[in-house]
Amino acid sequence: MNLPGAIDWKETVAPDEAERFERYASELRELQRKNARGGTPSRALHAKAHVGAFGELTVAPGLPEPLRVSLFAEQRTWPIYARFSNGSGRNQPDRTADIRGLALKLVGVPGRKLIPGLEDKLTQDFLFIQVPTVPFRTPDEFVSFVRIAAKGPGLLVPRLIGSLGLGRALSLLKGLATMPKVTSMATTPFYTALPLRFGATAAKLAVFPVGPTAVSPGTPASLRDDLDTRLRNGPLTWSLRAQLFVDERTTPIEDASVPWSEEISPFQELARLVLPQQDLTSARGTQLEGKIERMSFDPWHAVEELRPLGAMMRARAIAYRESVLERQAAPEPDEAVKLAG
Ligand code: HEM
Repeated sequence: MNLPGAIDWKETVAPDEAERFERYASELRELQRKNARGGTPSRALHAKAHVGAFGELTVAPGLPEPLRVSLFAEQRTWPIYARFSNGSGRNQPDRTADIRGLALKLVGVPGRKLIPGLEDKLTQDFLFIQVPTVPFRTPDEFVSFVRIAAKGPGLLVPRLIGSLGLGRALSLLKGLATMPKVTSMATTPFYTALPLRFGATAAKLAVFPVGPTAVSPGTPASLRDDLDTRLRNGPLTWSLRAQLFVDERTTPIEDASVPWSEEISPFQELARLVLPQQDLTSARGTQLEGKIERMSFDPWHAVEELRPLGAMMRARAIAYRESVLERQAAPEPDEAVKLAG
């Protein structure tokens, strides 16, 4: 076995996948239209935002060589926008079990970007969910699940078995049932769950909360209320870390359902993410949240050195584009929020 940071990772692109991924993206767009019921469409997935906030990402001093990649090459601070969300394409109460998301957009990042037409933009995004690994092996399984779940909980199990076969349906249901329940978005780690290039090697990224976080007594009514209270009372801090590729068996690029062992490849700190104390309900907070809601967070808003890897990521390249066009998202920002004032 290689050491973490091996460079012999590779992608395997199926000859028919571009056409298949176009079909999946159209299917998600149809769900997005259906959920809009003739009104303004929200995101195809992660429709409900808890909070949109501003912050900073500061690269850790003295990073070892394999971690000094792209925007992590030097110790400096990047302004960021953050959006916390629920995974569903519908606006559901937070008590409904769901994926929870955290999307970050760094602004001012130089270098040629990957999406055709957006090469000169200054943004680099990272998207996270609350699980380190998804139960889906491929985008085909992911979209099958989204398609079936959208029909309602009624015949979920037989429909999944019919679509994926008994074995895959059961392991998928087990994976979903054992997903950690998120009671606060400020105290839970969030993971990219899928790999990206990391210079010469590949990596998965994650953010881990660094306490203590300010909170007032009482039970918050929603995930938004919890974040709102905490941010009103003080800053929130996370450690952004990378887990480096080892080899195809231990840390596969294409099969998204295989966990990358933290014993073999531990997460290593890259930077600190801080959302400073802020009032979401102030005039400035409300304006900022409106702006963030219209933004597009996409793992393909990236430089080549941090290119998303694997079939699930390649499917996302098309799906996010369709969703963003459908809801007429704002163009990429070229300026960050001014921290002072
Ligand atoms: C498994 C890893 C994944 C993670 C960590 C992830 C995370 C996220 C997050 C955090 C958002 C919300 C972004 C925001 O706040 O604007 C989002 C949106 C979205 N995701 Fe994913 N996602 C994953 C997989 C996928 C896959 C496989 C697909 C489809 C093939 C997909 C399709 C979408 C779409 C269409 C949106 C809405 C895009 C928009 O309109 O801005 N995601 N995802």
